[in-house]
Amino acid sequence: MKILVTGGAGFIGSNFVRYIYKERPDWDITVFDKLTYAGNLKNLEGLDESRVHFIKADICDSEAIDNAIADTDAVIHFAAESHNDNSLFDPSPFIQTNLIGTYTILEAVRKYNKRLHHISTDEVYGDLELDDPAKFTPNTPYNPSSPYSSTKAGSDMLVRAWVRSFGVKATISNCSNNYGPYQHVEKFIPRQITEILEGRKPKLYGAGENVRDWIHTDDHSSGVLAILEKGKIGDTYLIGADGEKNNKQVIELILELMGKSSSDYEHVSDRPGHDLRYAIDSSKLENELGWKPRYTDFKLGLKNTIKWYRENEAWWKPQKIEAEAKYRKTGR
Ligand code: NAD
Ligand code: DAU
Repeated sequence: MKILVTGGAGFIGSNFVRYIYKERPDWDITVFDKLTYAGNLKNLEGLDESRVHFIKADICDSEAIDNAIADTDAVIHFAAESHNDNSLFDPSPFIQTNLIGTYTILEAVRKYNKRLHHISTDEVYGDLELDDPAKFTPNTPYNPSSPYSSTKAGSDMLVRAWVRSFGVKATISNCSNNYGPYQHVEKFIPRQITEILEGRKPKLYGAGENVRDWIHTDDHSSGVLAILEKGKIGDTYLIGADGEKNNKQVIELILELMGKSSSDYEHVSDRPGHDLRYAIDSSKLENELGWKPRYTDFKLGLKNTIKWYRENEAWWKPQKIEAEAKYRKTGR
């Protein structure tokens, strides 16, 4: 089996490559990545280059995408502009990569009749009230809030249309908030860990009541592999690990695990349009494909993630200055 992993030098893509490298030793993996500010070849260090190949190119480049897809069995499409705060600052790369890039991939898998798995997010469903007993299911209507989530929603719609109109062999997964090693320091958990490591206070948006449904990135990878191997063409699967926590609880836990007082954080201005709560019902994936999350102890997962950032300062230091400079412009 030859797979093409777009965005494989980013956080979740590189963890997926490492997961497949271990779980499917006979598969040949090609990473296709533009290496934006979020991509880093260090994320793939230590992998045998005879099994993991690399193409530096843009998914909007139809010639590069055509050549790469002609030579593969399946495409797992992670590449995206992924950060909500950046999308509020400048939506244009989100339109380009998330919409035009996905369209370019769809045209190529259509031309060469290749299998596609499209990686999406729970944010396409909008948000829930804190006391809403319902969770997101594959039948929840789309209701995205930000430039990021609306372009992800648009990309899902393109995939669905290409399945129905052109018979493209695609599946979609919508996963909740991932955490683990190699996550860019612009994101919530690594930002707080590295703020503490640099001697500053963690930054909580607004009152910190917003809830995210945390999942370890290796559980996301195992869910994607299950769908790739056993999923029904045209179907959408939700991936989540019942990890709902509000942001205040997560910051307090990080502080406690790093030996600080749990009140030693500061409130900063809120994100405009900030989604209140996400929650995933993953029963379709569990019941139909037999998937189960393995890393359900969030405190332990967070402890290991803190350890990784402590031990890999050389990895995150170069991106930290740029990330904090962006935040200073927005007062967050
Ligand atoms: P990331 O920002 O860490 O990585 C994105 C990768 O895509 C980078 O390596 C970047 O260089 C590459 N890329 C960006 N634009 C490209 C382009 N035009 N051509 C080629 N490569 C390009 O993102 P992530 O957090 O790892 O998210 C990966 C995917 O998972 C995204 O599709 C995102 O929407 C989805 N997702 C993320 C989460 C999460 O919690 N982070 C949850 C659910 C779904
Ligand atoms: O739900 C899946 C989504 O999760 C993915 O599709 C996105 O790619 C991914 O970035 C993530 O989106 P969020 O906006 O939920 O993640 P972020 O890490 O930016 O923020 C998580 C929560 O923490 C959110 O409620 C905002 C808050 N926050 C964030 C930062 C950076 C803070 O309180 N302080 C901060 O410094």
